[in-house]
Amino acid sequence: MQNTATGVPVLTIDGPSGSGKGTISRAVADTLGWHLLDSGALYRAVGYAASMAGIDLSDAAAVTRCAETTKITFRDLNDGGETRVIVNSHDATDEIRTETCGATASVIAAIATVRAALFEKQRSFRKAPGLVADGRDMGTVVFTDAAYKIFLTASAEERARRRYKQLKAKGLSVTLASLLREIQARDERDATRKVAPLKPAAGALIVDTTAVAVEEVIARVLAVVHPV
Ligand code: DC
Repeated sequence: MQNTATGVPVLTIDGPSGSGKGTISRAVADTLGWHLLDSGALYRAVGYAASMAGIDLSDAAAVTRCAETTKITFRDLNDGGETRVIVNSHDATDEIRTETCGATASVIAAIATVRAALFEKQRSFRKAPGLVADGRDMGTVVFTDAAYKIFLTASAEERARRRYKQLKAKGLSVTLASLLREIQARDERDATRKVAPLKPAAGALIVDTTAVAVEEVIARVLAVVHPV
């Protein structure tokens, strides 16, 4: 039985927004009985805290201080619902999921010192019996020694369509064209930044989910951990 953090198996699932990472990571973690790290929620929480504090997002030192001091906790209510994200004792689960907060997260995530401030926090999620880590740089930076690495992707049009359906189901008024523009802008920012740009880790299995059903993607990811 592995009992040191470095011996705990990690499965990294990286990819652009809307590639299905959240759904797939949750399902795979549940099936394996492993812990789950939603690293995007940490960047969103810092972006949210910085906005609430009226911090100028181009002030890297102030945003970094915010990343260092903001208390972020995940609370699973075990009621089948979404994991709650508590930011400085306020339940910000709904606020951090907005498109605006996603864009803010993408902006502050380009600051190297913000990424450094979140590094150890992310590593602390590595606990037995295993960890599924969802993000952009899980396999390339945070868990370079992960046993299993996946890169999920899908066409920008398909990702915009998925996001459109989700937001419509929540009763929000959005257009497909504006979502596509936002997704493309976020991809561009995440993939071209100097620190930890979005890219597949060496040796990662690349899964294009554009025309693949969720169950099939889950099966392909699980097969990496337990080859059939
Ligand atoms: O996965 P998400 O949409 O919740 O992530 C929001 C933003 O946070 C994303 O556009 C870029 C940033 N992010 C990152 O830079 N590194 C990660 N590991 C996770 C997210």
